[in-house]
Amino acid sequence: MKFEFIEKDIDKISADVEIIFIVEKNFDHKWVKDKEELELLNFKGEDEESALLADKRRLYVGVKSLDSDDIRVASAKAIKSIKNKNFKSAKIGIYSDVKAIVEGVLLGDYEFNRYKSKKENSKIETIYISKEEYSNKEFDSVKIKQEIEEAKIVANSTNYVRDLVNTPPNEITPVTLAKVAKLLAKEKDLEYKVLDENDLEKEGMNAFLAVGKASANPPRLIHLTYKPKNPKAKVALVGKGLTYDSGGLSLKPSEYMVTMKSDKSGACAVLGIIKAAKELELPIQIDAIIGAAENMVGPNSYKPDDILKAKNGKTIEVRNTDAEGRLVLADSLCYAQEKVKPDFILDFATLTGACVVALGEYTTGVMGFNSSLKKKILEATKESGELASELPFNRYLPKLLKSQVADICNISSSRYGGAITAALFLAEFIEEDNKDKWVHLDIAGPAYVEKEWGYNPYGASGAGVRLAIKWLQKEFNK
Ligand code: BES
Ligand code: ZN
Ligand code: ZN
Repeated sequence: MKFEFIEKDIDKISADVEIIFIVEKNFDHKWVKDKEELELLNFKGEDEESALLADKRRLYVGVKSLDSDDIRVASAKAIKSIKNKNFKSAKIGIYSDVKAIVEGVLLGDYEFNRYKSKKENSKIETIYISKEEYSNKEFDSVKIKQEIEEAKIVANSTNYVRDLVNTPPNEITPVTLAKVAKLLAKEKDLEYKVLDENDLEKEGMNAFLAVGKASANPPRLIHLTYKPKNPKAKVALVGKGLTYDSGGLSLKPSEYMVTMKSDKSGACAVLGIIKAAKELELPIQIDAIIGAAENMVGPNSYKPDDILKAKNGKTIEVRNTDAEGRLVLADSLCYAQEKVKPDFILDFATLTGACVVALGEYTTGVMGFNSSLKKKILEATKESGELASELPFNRYLPKLLKSQVADICNISSSRYGGAITAALFLAEFIEEDNKDKWVHLDIAGPAYVEKEWGYNPYGASGAGVRLAIKWLQKEFNK
């Protein structure tokens, strides 16, 4: 789908259909031309309500306010209402934030139908954006065009992540995920490195290796680097890449196992972030590091009671093989610190069901030691349209990870606060000097939801991409 900015009033643009938002139930705006007909249709202009007047070639969509995320949701609603009709083009004015319109349309238009024999693809080819603004705000057209391009990059990268996460586990294994990353590296001119099981052994990454041991599909550590000229900082992004999580010997009940193809969402998110960062030419070095493995059951399974030695020398008592993500991340975080020496380390992981219990399905859990860094990430998240909330550490929770036989246990002794104790487990693998550089993002809730929500489809949402890009832009693009 193409977006074209036209420096004309909306009435002067020709298109198959016009999109008009009813903002805060205000039917008296000059763009609303069918007040009586809308009344006959009992159209109230409620949030996400829509009315298509096909003969008039006008679509009306209710929107709660001019806040960016309300505009995103309404734009998604608009494209969904017209995509399967026989319109090839649509036109719309600017509502406060042009980026939100473009993002909402592209994110709302997304469908994962690769495996469907009958596909109903969007018929809309072009969206014309008029220079006219709802509240008569003046815009610089150079800036508008730039914002449209930025929004396309961010939304398309999010959709790239959605496609990867939605791809089933019989197609994406650690080896094929490495191939996907290699292709991305080639296309975007990124540095690419992959570590196979022998390399992992040489690096002493025995916690990571243990998780992948039972699988016929061997583990891979994937490392991509985007290096602009004179980078302002080095940011390491570490992603949990469990291409399948059966739970291992601590096997998941079948109803919890379905959707576990999404346990690679953190890995896919960091691929999407580095892709967008490169396309946006952000002035920072980004290292995307993925711990990819498959947590399966087999003759060579790692077992509850095993004691594993991680890359930093710490020993881990395994008491539950379903708490595998933290084992893979422990070694991957050590690797990231040793090889990259980053200024910031963010990890993205579908780490705990407890995070979903705590915050609900739509919200990412943000954890770490550095309050001002967490605050900045939370602020950026809000602007990006994603949802996140802090889950706080305290002095008592680390004690729950004590082991009688090793340095640390891979599960907490309490059933409560599981998202935070998982993060505190990861903290054991963050060097003292790096504690303030690290933030952990538990995306177990929003990464994959089995129903539509706003501009997010059934399945993968691409969680993490928009929040990270917004933070990077705010922090380094001043
Ligand atoms: N991949 C799961 C976490 C998860 C749950 C992600 C639901 C998305 C939706 C993770 O590996 C896991 O199984 N965690 C366990 C930890 C427990 C054994 C301490 C959990 O959350 O139950
Ligand atoms: Zn698990
Ligand atoms: Zn998992």
